[in-house]
Amino acid sequence: MAPTLASLVAIFSCMALCSLMRASAASKLRVGFYAQTCPRAEALVREAFDDAVRKTDDIGADLLRMHFHDCFVRGCDGSVLIASANGNTAEKDADINQTFEEEAFQVVDNAKASLEAACPGVVSCADILAYVARDSVAHYGGGFYDVPAGRRDGRISLATDTSENIPRHNFTLDQLTRVFARKGLTQSEMITLSGIAVYIGAHTIGIAHCPAFTERLYNFNSSSGVDPTLDPAYAVQLQQQCPTAASNTEVPMDLPSELGFDNSYYKGILRNRGLFTSDQTLVSTPAAAAQVKLFARNSAVFKSRFAAAMVRMGSIGVLTGSNGEIRSNCRAPN
Ligand code: HEM
Ligand SMILES: *[C@@H]1O[C@H](CO)[C@@H](O)[C@H](O)[C@H]1NC(C)=O
Ligand SMILES: *[C@@H]1O[C@H](CO)[C@@H](O)[C@H](O)[C@H]1NC(C)=O
Ligand SMILES: *[C@@H]1O[C@H](CO)[C@@H](O)[C@H](O)[C@H]1NC(C)=O
Repeated sequence: MAPTLASLVAIFSCMALCSLMRASAASKLRVGFYAQTCPRAEALVREAFDDAVRKTDDIGADLLRMHFHDCFVRGCDGSVLIASANGNTAEKDADINQTFEEEAFQVVDNAKASLEAACPGVVSCADILAYVARDSVAHYGGGFYDVPAGRRDGRISLATDTSENIPRHNFTLDQLTRVFARKGLTQSEMITLSGIAVYIGAHTIGIAHCPAFTERLYNFNSSSGVDPTLDPAYAVQLQQQCPTAASNTEVPMDLPSELGFDNSYYKGILRNRGLFTSDQTLVSTPAAAAQVKLFARNSAVFKSRFAAAMVRMGSIGVLTGSNGEIRSNCRAPN
């Protein structure tokens, strides 16, 4: 169906207006937001993270992903942390099974507890997540970046919000583009897909459970049992780790350096070793493929673009000023 003039006008005025609205909310976030009100805020979050990662070396991957899911659903407002209660099924319990570890929520709880002891009612759970995601990236070698803060916490968390906002492992390029564009996370309308490519680099750390990719390994389609866009040797290896489509083993996403925040996931994608359809599909378009090649060649460029991308992601739909609240318990609205 051809777009009508009215719908084009609506899209273009939203592109202009919506980005203005986003820019004004985002510009209220600032680096050092707690310098006066809670000077040790970032240090206390870092301590909670360091304690946790000493016990569980990959816990930071879960925390990074949690910040991403927080921002994509209702903006970065800590909604992903809220527990189901009083008949409400919260985001984290959505049936798309986001597979967050309970231990990751405890890291946020521990940070919150020391923040409440030091400066009660000041630091939001949404900011804790943004800080701890940054600490994770830095810990695994992705480099440190400053996090603009001042987010406030939302009061709502609905499982039903997740399916349309969280990109899935088997999304097509079109579907990925739509979700990222709705969040304003594309460099420009013309080079949308290269804008997404930088985010995929997060898959350089952490694990996936078999169900996120077994449809590529078994009964793929009527002409091929295994996804022909997956490196055959890698497919065999993955089949050993996930002997059936229903296996639930944890598999490192970036085998060469599971806990190294580097550019090797891009090198993998260039060898058809992107684990998810949604990762591998990026190289099927020239603009994004060029971006993947650039990042595979130049780790420093990847890291600096990734840091900028995280700051952008961290500003999606934020509540600032007198909107929202500062939760005293990250798992429940006040
Ligand atoms: C482009 C769309 C994306 C899709 C379709 C996607 C999908 C997935 C899937 C299916 C998993 C495996 C979950 C499991 O099986 O337990 C995963 C893991 C992960 N994702 Fe993404 N993701 C996307 C973007 C992102 C972004 C933007 C970030 C962070 C900035 C991110 C960070 C992570 C991390 C760190 C893990 C590992 C989690 C762990 O080890 O516990 N992803 N992702
Ligand atoms: C969701 O993931 C968890 C953790 O991997 C797993 O134990 C559980 O069986 C999964 N549930 C569904 C419905 O897939
Ligand atoms: C994507 O995966 C989900 C299950 O995770 C499945 O329900 C859906 O049919 C898949 N979509 C495609 C296009 O394969
Ligand atoms: C199977 O998937 C491959 C790769 O996506 C595609 O090229 C091929 O046309 C598909 N075959 C059928 C019968 O759909």
